[in-house]
Amino acid sequence: EAGRRRQRLLDLNRDAARFYYQMLQQPEGRAVQEYLDRRKIRRATAVNFGLGASLDAWDALILAMTKKGYTKSELLEAGLAVQNRNGGLYDKFRNRLIFPVIDVRGDVVAFGGRVLDKSEPKYMNSQETPVYSKRRVLYGLNLAKKSKRSNIILCEGNIDVVTLHQAGFDNAVASMGTALTVEQTRLLSRFTKELVLCYDNDNAGKIATERALEILNNSEFSVKVLQLPRRRTEDGELVKQDADDFIKLQGKDAFEALLTGSENGIEFRMAQVAGKYDLSSDEARVAYCEEVSALLAALANPVEREIYTTRAAETAKITPEVMRLEVQRAFKRRL
Ligand code: UTP
Ligand code: MN
Ligand code: MN
Ligand code: MN
Ligand code: MN
Repeated sequence: EAGRRRQRLLDLNRDAARFYYQMLQQPEGRAVQEYLDRRKIRRATAVNFGLGASLDAWDALILAMTKKGYTKSELLEAGLAVQNRNGGLYDKFRNRLIFPVIDVRGDVVAFGGRVLDKSEPKYMNSQETPVYSKRRVLYGLNLAKKSKRSNIILCEGNIDVVTLHQAGFDNAVASMGTALTVEQTRLLSRFTKELVLCYDNDNAGKIATERALEILNNSEFSVKVLQLPRRRTEDGELVKQDADDFIKLQGKDAFEALLTGSENGIEFRMAQVAGKYDLSSDEARVAYCEEVSALLAALANPVEREIYTTRAAETAKITPEVMRLEVQRAFKRRL
């Protein structure tokens, strides 16, 4: 029945994770080991995350797992094998760095795999299976839940999590490129009441931050936003960075400083709105007040609302009284 089938898939996933892990230690895993060296991921870190290597072959995993007694249909159901047009199976993950995805109970529920070069797709992930529901899992939470730090850092990618842990931020987790879900926030609330959003500083990361703030708005969490600076290249061009890029270039102390200085959610959103307008023009000030008042009207805590209403008034160079009226109007529009 369903319970036994689930257990069978979990066993298969665990055996597959062991296989990938062992391959990384073998001569066949050298390409992946060299890739880890290039990304400055140390041996002990790789062990801590159970990282592995899928070989440059069509059926290495399938052969090893069928030898252990798993069936073709189990391999397909687990998403570890793919069927070709003739009904034959081939390994889904080939020639990739493997990240086992482990849930808070310690079960291997899925895998992510990164290519070793510039080919596409950069990451492959397990599809949804009877043991894997993307919206209920966060990469790294199996480790982060044991952290002594009071908060949890939410970033985008697998490598961000691995690098952050390696640098001593063992409270990092990733939503693996997708938007934060309500189910994930429920899961997080079992371990912390303080979240720090640390998405990539490109446009996609900004949008992900705003989505996450909407989900977390008026939740029991205290939420901060760690904004990674853009990096200036030698040619003076500003380029995006993620947590991994930043730590590799600036080091962990610089990251700790950003963490300490991170803004709370409303400060971040107000700065985003202010950034859209050139506040030296009267029309822009009017538009700014209208937009920012909608944010302020959504704040449930009246003390918070008062503090940030005053701050928005300073930004717009109007009196706090007028800004309060504007917020009241926005509040009525919401009803
Ligand atoms: P990013 O696009 O920010 O990854 O995706 P990255 O920082 O460039 O990756 P590296 O540093 O070169 O390895 C963030 C996360 O989104 C998911 C992965 O989980 C990735 O870690 N993603 C990304 C996918 O699932 N598929 C993709 O093709 C790309
Ligand atoms: Mn990204
Ligand atoms: Mn990256
Ligand atoms: Mn990234
Ligand atoms: Mn990239």
